[in-house]
Amino acid sequence: MELRTERLLLRRWRESDREPFAAMNSDPEVMHHFPAPSTRQESDAFIDRIEAGFDIWGFGLWAVEVPGVAEFIGFTGIWPVGFDAHFTPAIEVGWRLARAGWGRGYATEAARAALEFGFEQAGLEEIVSFTIPANVRSTAVMERLGMTHDPTDDFDHPNLPADSPLGRHVLYRKRADAIDRL
Ligand SMILES: CC(C)(COP(=O)(O)OP(=O)(O)OC[C@H]1O[C@@H](n2cnc3c(N)ncnc32)[C@H](O)[C@@H]1OP(=O)(O)O)[C@@H](O)C(=O)NCCC(=O)NCCS
Repeated sequence: MELRTERLLLRRWRESDREPFAAMNSDPEVMHHFPAPSTRQESDAFIDRIEAGFDIWGFGLWAVEVPGVAEFIGFTGIWPVGFDAHFTPAIEVGWRLARAGWGRGYATEAARAALEFGFEQAGLEEIVSFTIPANVRSTAVMERLGMTHDPTDDFDHPNLPADSPLGRHVLYRKRADAIDRL
């Protein structure tokens, strides 16, 4: 199952994505707001989990291609939140692009298609997104998507130590009935 936008193809993963995905996940700038860059093995295991998820849910984190320009620039998609918090169970929208893909509007364009799929095809009522406040590139994508932030929703990520500087997260939400503001 694929999604197309004006400039992008969101598709299932290919073996040939593994190398550029691992390169992206080992780039300290891309992984700046994460606890650590990933090893090749972790990166490969992530693709395996993503692909298994597509088979279960019918959606997931799509590999993003710019047809005729770049076969793989990263991922964008929707995915069940994998931990317990005050807003779970929930489906999140997320993105990670190689640096060469930044600053072109690709993340926002891909995420619009993922949200549309989530609301219109998967029948979701709400989709959330979260990150640390310092990740302003990511919160800017959330705001461009018309997602809203209520500070009382902010939370400490349960998988990080209480004193971690990466622990505090902002939560953004978008409801299906707000899709006209995509
Ligand atoms: C988060 C991330 C995907 C955002 O990428 P991004 O390039 O800033 O976001 P977009 O793809 O929406 O692009 C928007 C930018 O492209 C510019 N742009 C250029 N051409 C454009 C076009 N044709 N259409 C729309 N925007 C365009 C916009 O003006 C904007 O620039 P600005 O950031 O200077 O304001 C990227 O920084 C990333 O992969 N980070 C690392 C991983 C990560 O942290 N993921 C999120 C974890 S929660």
